[in-house]
Amino acid sequence: MAMMSNPLEEISASKSPDPCVLVIFGATGDLTARKLVPALYNLSKDGLLPSHFVCTGFARRPKSHEQFRQEMFEAISKHSRSKPIEQGIWDSFSEQLFYHCSEFDNDEGYEKFKNFLQDIDAQFGTRGNRVYYLSTPPSYFPQIVDKLSKHGLLYDPEVVQDRFSRIIIEKPFGQDLESAIKLQRELESCLQETQIYRIDHYLGKETVQNLMVLRFANAVFESIWNNKYIDHVQITVSEDIGVGTRGKFWEEAGMLRDIVQNHMMQLLSLVCMEPPVSLQANSVHDEKVKVLQSIRPISPDEFDNHIVRGQYGPGFVNGEPVKGYRQEDNVNPQSGIETYVALRLFVDTWRWSGVPFYLRAGKRLPKRATEIAVTFKEAPGVLFNRALGPENANTLVIRIQPDEGISLKINSKVPGGSCLIQPVKMDFRYGSYFGSTPPEAYERLLCDCVLGDSTLFARQDEVMASWKLLTPVLEYWKHTAPKNFPNYAAGSWGPKEADELLQKDGRTWRYL
Ligand code: BG6
Repeated sequence: MAMMSNPLEEISASKSPDPCVLVIFGATGDLTARKLVPALYNLSKDGLLPSHFVCTGFARRPKSHEQFRQEMFEAISKHSRSKPIEQGIWDSFSEQLFYHCSEFDNDEGYEKFKNFLQDIDAQFGTRGNRVYYLSTPPSYFPQIVDKLSKHGLLYDPEVVQDRFSRIIIEKPFGQDLESAIKLQRELESCLQETQIYRIDHYLGKETVQNLMVLRFANAVFESIWNNKYIDHVQITVSEDIGVGTRGKFWEEAGMLRDIVQNHMMQLLSLVCMEPPVSLQANSVHDEKVKVLQSIRPISPDEFDNHIVRGQYGPGFVNGEPVKGYRQEDNVNPQSGIETYVALRLFVDTWRWSGVPFYLRAGKRLPKRATEIAVTFKEAPGVLFNRALGPENANTLVIRIQPDEGISLKINSKVPGGSCLIQPVKMDFRYGSYFGSTPPEAYERLLCDCVLGDSTLFARQDEVMASWKLLTPVLEYWKHTAPKNFPNYAAGSWGPKEADELLQKDGRTWRYL
């Protein structure tokens, strides 16, 4: 089999990671147990961690190293992509796991931590290199960075060249444009841009990385990737889960901040970007930011017509009765927070002029499915078109998850005497073709940060451009309470206004 390697892979694969300590702030949280430590375990299993490596939690709850290890063992048993845990791998991995208890504002706690890290360096040969993962509530980010800087735990790369210190910042980066700018300034007072890794885990997903390969390694797609041939694009992030235990977080976030501002804008920019001059991080970021800056601003008269917000009420998902959003724990029973968003955007560039991009994201929809569907214009109505309609338009579907793959809908003649035409699918599935489960997004991203490769992280101007576009909507929503919440039942495909959004343009959402 002629196997094409992923050029993005090559950038990282060509380097070997330097020794380092990964510090997880907020290590008692959900993300550490569900994603970060299982990802590290799998990296260790695949031999992708540095040969001298330590991971230490930093959080407020008192616990011993042993307790932390035990909790992480349980977390890996439950959430690791490879199961069951291999005892030998776990034994050596667990010896690299530590825990430090401190408040995030306690100077003494940081001083002790500094000494602790020096001992770790001496014992494990980690050479003073640090990656700090901020997985705390966002309000702590500036304080932690400030304390790290004050206690000499951050090094200026222009002055110190024999060690590195990098920060990974979880999303959301700010709550709106103003707070994102403020956070950026606070970070800049202690860090260089090259030290800041704004994580958007969608960028670490295998299928998302493959978007650039699909577009720029296949002349067949790139030559028709424009407004001459493309009718419209639909991007869907559908989740069947509700907000679960995250009610408190969700009450301050909502769907526009949680998924649209980051994950969906990143997908949109990868679909629309021009070919970068190289695969170096800045070349890729330069092209993505141009897309985000070219999105037509949403004018106030569109707030009600072209942006739909929704909130789920009680209903049934996968045959089980489920609560409405307002009945979830830690949620205001009158909450006006949206759990569903649908909107129409235009990217005002020569390539995309006039092509609508329809985005929808929702919780408690009937199924989990994330996809990008590119619908091509219908063939000229000369020969067969009387028999065809928009449902026969060629559609390229990039399935991000689950069932990762790509399919192309084309029309075919039904065998037999008559000239009946029927859409058929050419289907490529990652799982069956490559015969392996793709690594988790966090595995790739943690590895890249240790390697110093920021290609799959968001640069500050991308984040700002996205906030600039969406902040006016958030402002409008803040002052205009939704009148009809809850406006969709859990287990349905969202509010009827979302269907009307496309009907106005003579289109419909894809049936998933
Ligand atoms: C996170 C959001 O960024 O992405 C969650 O905060 C969401 O609300 C999750 O459920 C979805 O991630 P994935 O990888 O399951 O699609």
